[in-house]
Amino acid sequence: MRIASKANNKDMATSKGRILVTGGTGYIGSHTTVELLDAGYDVVIIDNLSNSNRNVLDGIEAISGRRPDFVEADCTDFGALEKLFKSYPDIVGIINFAASKAVGESVQKPLLYYRNNLNTLINLLELSKRYNVKGLVFSSSCTVYGEPDSNPVTEQSPIKPATSPYGNTKQICEEIICDDIAAGAPFRSIILRYFNPVGSHPSALIGELPNGVPQNLIPYLTQTAIGIRKELSVFGDDYNTPDGSCIRDYIDVVDLAKAHVIAVERLVEGKTESPVEIFNLGTGNGVSVLQLISEFEAATGVKVPHRIAARREGDIEKVWANPRRANEILGWKADTPLADTLRSAWKWQLALRERGIM
Ligand code: NAD
Ligand code: WQD
Repeated sequence: MRIASKANNKDMATSKGRILVTGGTGYIGSHTTVELLDAGYDVVIIDNLSNSNRNVLDGIEAISGRRPDFVEADCTDFGALEKLFKSYPDIVGIINFAASKAVGESVQKPLLYYRNNLNTLINLLELSKRYNVKGLVFSSSCTVYGEPDSNPVTEQSPIKPATSPYGNTKQICEEIICDDIAAGAPFRSIILRYFNPVGSHPSALIGELPNGVPQNLIPYLTQTAIGIRKELSVFGDDYNTPDGSCIRDYIDVVDLAKAHVIAVERLVEGKTESPVEIFNLGTGNGVSVLQLISEFEAATGVKVPHRIAARREGDIEKVWANPRRANEILGWKADTPLADTLRSAWKWQLALRERGIM
């Protein structure tokens, strides 16, 4: 375990306390760290860099003027994690992003996914009790709703059998949290079910860094627009949707990050209404793949070569959120216009080229 830059978080007099961000150099974790620092929290990140890069810390520092503390270690390593808690006795809350997240890979390597995602959470819950942490925010996913019976989905919509080991880890992790707290764990948790996070920080200093050929729509689209990929395959135009392509709820990653600050604050300040709270984080708007391509072209003036391809196995036809609970209880709303989000994704792709990364 290596600890970097502890000296930088000096402003203890005005700090709201320290948040442990697991997976904090990753896509959503880095954006959330920026928002936490801006809101006056101290942050210590733990990441094993299995799907991210240490340089992300420079981007976070360039945006917020503060460098989060960073520990390079694996959350499944109980000893390393405990050492971190001993080094930072001021941790008041945890946001747990650390997980393996590639759906296809999880089918090929299920044990890796169960081991990583479940053991990370179990270690954090165990240590939260020992070190008096007030609460944990957990990254869940709309994948728990599977193919919904109706849209938009509320938090009460049925949980469907998982279609991948990845999706199953999210369902099991939600259950682990509920069982632990039901058994009297002296702390609270907020489970956030994200819809489809997209875009990047408007500064283009941090963003999504897909590994290899992107599986997700937006990175594939921006890589096609810039010429890295020849054309984007639209997976199916014969679905039961107005234009035949699948519908999702694309949520801006900065809007998403802001919800985490509100959630962790709610836990730290003891304001939750029940020991476990669950919120959908989405915009409430369903957008089809073909609509998204048109919106991107209109927002950026850049054409996206695309063709209709066969359906992708396992795809959900349509899913979008009813975010009312988060709007009303958290006082949070995803309000970045989709055009701005798509421009941020494009700006990020251009920045990657400028830096010779992609
Ligand atoms: P990401 O891969 O960019 O970030 C995850 C980070 O965790 C990476 O930096 C990785 O190196 C780190 N990590 C993984 N296992 C670790 C371990 N054992 N110890 C320490 N670090 C570890 O992913 P993301 O898109 O930022 O997703 C963050 C969380 O949100 C994940 O839990 C993911 O399942 C969940 N989520 C993501 C999406 C999405 O579409 N991006 C949607 C719903 C939920
Ligand atoms: C979006 C839409 C595709 C690529 C996945 C996980 C889910 C969640 C988010 C974490 C779909 C279409 C895509 C392409 C396309 N992650 N598409 N051509 O499938 O909604 O969700 O990421 O929890 O668990 O399953 O996201 O970005 O892969 O796809 O037409 O090259 O774009 O068919 O309709 P998805 P996605």
